Amino acid sequence: MNAILYIGETWSARADRGFDAQSGAGLLVDGGKIAARGPAAALRAQHPGARVVDLTGKILAPGFVDAHVHFPQLDIIGSHGSQLLDWLARYTYPAELRFAEQAYAAAAAERFVTELLANGTTAAAVYGSSHAASADALFAECERRGVRAVIGKVSMDRDAPAGLLVPVERDLRESEALIERWHGRDGRLFYALTPRFALACSDALMAGLGGLAAKHKTVYVQTHHAETAAEVRAVAARFPAAAHYLDVYRGFGLLGERTILGHSVQATAAERALLARTKCVVAHCPTSNLFLGSGLLPLSAHADAGVRLALATDVGAGTSFSLWKTMRAAYEVQQLQGESVSAETLFWLATRGGAEALGMGAVSGALEAGSEADFQVLDPARDRLLAARMASGTAAERLFAMMALADDRVVESVYVRGRKVYG
Ligand code: GUN
Ligand code: ZN
Repeated sequence: MNAILYIGETWSARADRGFDAQSGAGLLVDGGKIAARGPAAALRAQHPGARVVDLTGKILAPGFVDAHVHFPQLDIIGSHGSQLLDWLARYTYPAELRFAEQAYAAAAAERFVTELLANGTTAAAVYGSSHAASADALFAECERRGVRAVIGKVSMDRDAPAGLLVPVERDLRESEALIERWHGRDGRLFYALTPRFALACSDALMAGLGGLAAKHKTVYVQTHHAETAAEVRAVAARFPAAAHYLDVYRGFGLLGERTILGHSVQATAAERALLARTKCVVAHCPTSNLFLGSGLLPLSAHADAGVRLALATDVGAGTSFSLWKTMRAAYEVQQLQGESVSAETLFWLATRGGAEALGMGAVSGALEAGSEADFQVLDPARDRLLAARMASGTAAERLFAMMALADDRVVESVYVRGRKVYG
C-alpha cells in the first residue's frame, strides 16, 4: 500500500461556491488521487497502512489556477509607464522577439514554470510568443515538471514588428502541428488557438483560426477582449460593421465554451449577454488592469449576466504570479466600485471556479475524494505578520487575512497528481 495521509488544516471551495475549512483534518492520497478527506483521527484508524505526513500548523489547499498569463513576458514584469497599446510596442513586442530562439525559450520556460509552482499554481492558460518554438519549449517544460496547462503560440500578422508577424498560411500550419503534437498529452496538456487580439490579426487569420476551432472541437481559444477604452475605439474604427468588439470574434467563429477572453473590462451589456449565451470564460486580471490603468471590471455585472469567470495574473502586465495577490487586487477593484466581494468567492475563483472554467473541474481545483491530488501546503508562519494574524479567528476571517497578506512566501510545497513538484 502506498497511500499517504497528510495531516493538517484543509481548505477547499465547495461546489456551491462556499468555503470548507477543516482543522485536525487529513487528506488521503492514493495513486495520484484524493482517496478521502476528513477528520485525521478517523482516517488514521481506517487506513492504518498509510504513511503519515504530519503537517500540523499548516494548511492544505487546492493548487491555484491562473487563467491568463504570458510566458514570454516573464522578464518585462514591472516595466514602467504607459497604457496598453504603448506598453505593447515599447516593452512587450521587443521582449517577445527573443523567443524566436529555441535555447532562449527553453531557458525562460524553466524559470516561468518555477514561478508558477512557487506560487502554488498547478494549472494555467498560457500565451507563448508567435514563434512555434516558444510553445514547444513551454509544453515540454510543463510536461517535465508536472504542470497542467493550456498553451498556445500567439497568432498575429499585423501592426507589430516584422519578426513577430507570421503569415496566415504558415501560422495555421504551425498551430495545427502544435495541436497534433501536444493537445491532450497525458490528459494534462492542451492547445489553445491564440489570436493575440483583433488589432494584431488580419481578417483572414481570424477566419482561419475559427476554421481550426471548428475542426478541432476540443481545442481551446484564448484572446484579449475590451481591455482598454483606446483599444475598443480602435477595434470599432477597424470593424465598423461589427455590433461591438466581441462581435468581431463571434463573426470569425471564435466564441464557445472553450474560449477564454482576457479582461473584458470595457464590455457592454450586449457583450455580457453574448458572453453568457456563448458560455465563454472571462479571465479577470486585476493587477494588470490596475498597473496599465485599463479600468475596473464590474465583476458582479458579469456574474449577474451569467458570464463564467476565472482569475488570472496576466504577467507581464500583471505584477505578480501570486493568486493571493491577484485575489487581493480583485477585492480592491471591487471596493473601488462600492462592492465588497467575499474572500470565499475569490478563493473559489482562484481554485475550483478556475478549474471549471478551464474544463478541468472534474479532476482538479478542489480537495475532494475522486479528484486528482493537485494541492499546495501553505505555512503562514513563513510570514511574521501573517503568522500572528492567522493565530485566531473564524475560518472565513483567516481566509480573508490570507487574501489580504499572503504571497509566495507561504507556499511550502506543491503537488500535482500526488507527486511533489515544488518545495
Ligand atoms: N492585448 C494584446 N496583447 C496583449 C498582452 O500581451 N498583454 C495584455 N495585457 N493585453 C494585450
Ligand atoms: Zn494578456
